[in-house]
Amino acid sequence: MDKFKILKKQLKQLEKNKDLFPFLTIRLNSKAEFFFEAKSRTDLIKAYSLSKKLNLPFLILGGGSNLVPTEKKIAGLVVKNSYLKKEIVKESDSFTDLLISSGYPASLLVNQTIELGLSGFENFAGLPGTVGGAIYMNSKWTKPLTYFSDYLLFAYLIDREGKIKKVDRTYFKFNYDYSLLQKTKEILLEGVFRLKKTDQAELKKIAADNLKYRRQTQPLGKASSGCFFKNIAGQSTGYLIDKAGLKGYRVGRFMISEKHANFIINLGGGDQEDLLKLIKVIKSTIKEKFNLDLEEEVIII
Ligand code: EPU
Repeated sequence: MDKFKILKKQLKQLEKNKDLFPFLTIRLNSKAEFFFEAKSRTDLIKAYSLSKKLNLPFLILGGGSNLVPTEKKIAGLVVKNSYLKKEIVKESDSFTDLLISSGYPASLLVNQTIELGLSGFENFAGLPGTVGGAIYMNSKWTKPLTYFSDYLLFAYLIDREGKIKKVDRTYFKFNYDYSLLQKTKEILLEGVFRLKKTDQAELKKIAADNLKYRRQTQPLGKASSGCFFKNIAGQSTGYLIDKAGLKGYRVGRFMISEKHANFIINLGGGDQEDLLKLIKVIKSTIKEKFNLDLEEEVIII
């Protein structure tokens, strides 16, 4: 029996040759050999175990805001994580412990926790992607430097054997743009965050200020993957690309944003070839002008 048939038996909604364009914020054309939307914990575990059994490459797609496929086709099983769960697991006079699933949209969580008067995510207003993506990437806000993972207590993962594992915060070895999941390729199921009960108005003000800063400094609403490269040598890579005179530079349908030079914008219909050429120009210019080697922040596959 072919792999599609075996998978389809267990994952009823499985699709073949699925266009990933709508799921990628940079709007690249790329297809998944097999595609499945996981709507529960069981779905995620089942899909992962099957991919192991069939020896298929496995890729989890959160909000698609940091994923840049350089191939027109992604081999194996791509799973869109739409597992949504939010539950109070513990409460005191001063805090609430919230269990949140990995497929939960980060921006929804930010808004809902602010409404509940719970502090912890208010710096992340306007953050694209999902909770799973934010933990995997260790998403941050730099004014002041705070991480989405700051209030994580413990989490549940699917390990490489397909078993469920409970780990505490230290397990992740969080650092700038880094969590251990990038190395182990384990899958986050849920995280439990301890959020402080705080005055709602105060949280709203912080969120509004941060969102305003984002709107003023970043090309929100344009097709991009957010900041494309990691900051380097303690400096903003956007600042460096800007200083190198590359704002507005174009290759085909890809352009370096005029608003923030670490954002690559797809003007519509851009293909991988042009994007790769533009990346090369940026890297070689920064090497030449500042003798620095840029590293992608986005996940190139
Ligand atoms: N700057 C320029 N030109 C530019 C961009 C920035 O001169 O084109 C200057 C700014 O004027 C500012 C300084 O560089 O003085 C820093 O800029 P910004 O505040 O935008 O911060 P950043 O270091 O460029 C980082 C994160 C962003 C995050 C912001 C705000 C990285 C690679 N980027 O950008 O994260 O939103 O701080 O906290 O760490 C992302 O992860 O996708 C992302 C965009």
